[in-house]
Amino acid sequence: MRAVTWQGRTDMQVTDVPDPRIEDPTDVVVRITSTGLCGSDLHLYDPLTPFMTPGDVVGHEPMGIVEDVGPEVTALKRGDRVVVPFNVSCGTCWMCTRNLHSQCETTQNREHGTGASLFGYSKLYGQVPGGQAEAMRVPFGNTLPIKVAAGPPDDRFLYLSDVLPTSWQAVEYADTPEDGTLLVMGAGPIGDMCARIAKHRGLRVIVVDSVPERLARVTAHGGEVIDTNEIDSSDVPERVRDLTDGRGSDSVIDAVGMEAHGSPVAETAQKSLRFLPKKLQEMVMQNAGSDRLDALYTAFESVRRGGTVSISGVYGGAASPMPMLQLFDKQLVIRQGQANVHRWSDDILELLQRDEDVLGVDTFATHRLPLEDAPGAYKSFRDKEDGMVKVVFQP
Ligand SMILES: NC(=O)c1ccc[n+]([C@@H]2O[C@H](COP(=O)([O-])OP(=O)(O)OC[C@H]3O[C@@H](n4cnc5c(N)ncnc54)[C@H](O)[C@@H]3O)[C@@H](O)[C@H]2O)c1
Ligand SMILES: [Zn+2]
Ligand SMILES: [Zn+2]
Repeated sequence: MRAVTWQGRTDMQVTDVPDPRIEDPTDVVVRITSTGLCGSDLHLYDPLTPFMTPGDVVGHEPMGIVEDVGPEVTALKRGDRVVVPFNVSCGTCWMCTRNLHSQCETTQNREHGTGASLFGYSKLYGQVPGGQAEAMRVPFGNTLPIKVAAGPPDDRFLYLSDVLPTSWQAVEYADTPEDGTLLVMGAGPIGDMCARIAKHRGLRVIVVDSVPERLARVTAHGGEVIDTNEIDSSDVPERVRDLTDGRGSDSVIDAVGMEAHGSPVAETAQKSLRFLPKKLQEMVMQNAGSDRLDALYTAFESVRRGGTVSISGVYGGAASPMPMLQLFDKQLVIRQGQANVHRWSDDILELLQRDEDVLGVDTFATHRLPLEDAPGAYKSFRDKEDGMVKVVFQP
């Protein structure tokens, strides 16, 4: 079958790979009908290179039709329509039964000291073949895939794989008071969806980014925006205080992550890594500060005293410097992590099953492309060309 594979730094290719098959009695094989491109894939494209192996099948936002089931699968049958969560989680271990699916003890990667495996996400997370492919093997067929109704177009359910639960968790963790203000750093798919969910809950939302068409989507859904083409990004906290009685926002979501703009020193460090031998690159990433922290620092500056910072942007440097004086003195709460998809999926599914498209998922994608267009799409998505905000591949 055809699949998007990582071949080297900023080199994604669509190649022939072996067809997935049932390996364990509870596996299912899913024929993929739609599969998203995520900001997290961009981290694999470049900064997480040290943890990638040429030929890795990427992608973690798939849905499709069950094509084959292992002998112990009772919850699904051939022909069922399913969304595959990006966490590879068993659903039955100590962590999963406490709703911490991204820490699943059955798939934790103890040799790397990391949490549950993720589909298509480097050897730090299990090197499990991903979902930007014509088909994929999904373990834990009785507990992992989310069965959805036949009928509505894929877009109605696709984002249950990642964007929706990630954004839902970010808003839950931000814990904004009912009459409060939520600041969202980044208007990519995650920041945009966080803003939509928060508006749906009746909160005041302000979103920061520099990409005009991304900010326009936020405005169209009732969010306020701060455009960092118009003010220097170092002035964002001051602007936020001006908009919030001088205090700062009650909470902030960081929906940017390790590749933030505006961190020139860390950006140079991140880029110069590529000139080191691979083993050394891995060591430096695991032992030194390699994240670009501009968005996170802006979050800490902009939140009010006693407020909450909810981090959904992915960070990967082991020694990224944290302003402990400020965090302690301002008495901040910080919550973060990969989304625990099954913790939130029932609540979200209830919204998606309504006739009204409450969160605007049907029109969320800006580009629908064949899988063969993946190499160019990765580049355009990273470079924010062509009005590209959310790409859905249709294999
Ligand atoms: N926690 C999870 O479970 C989870 C799941 C999915 C994605 N993510 C992470 O969420 C982040 C966002 O994902 P996405 O798909 O929206 O990606 P994206 O790369 O499309 O969006 C990031 C946005 O941040 C903006 N930005 C960059 N620097 C900024 C700065 N200093 N201030 C304000 N905005 C800035 C960019 O212009 C861009 O629009 C990524 O780090 C991704 O890895 C986490
Ligand atoms: Zn993702
Ligand atoms: Zn588990």
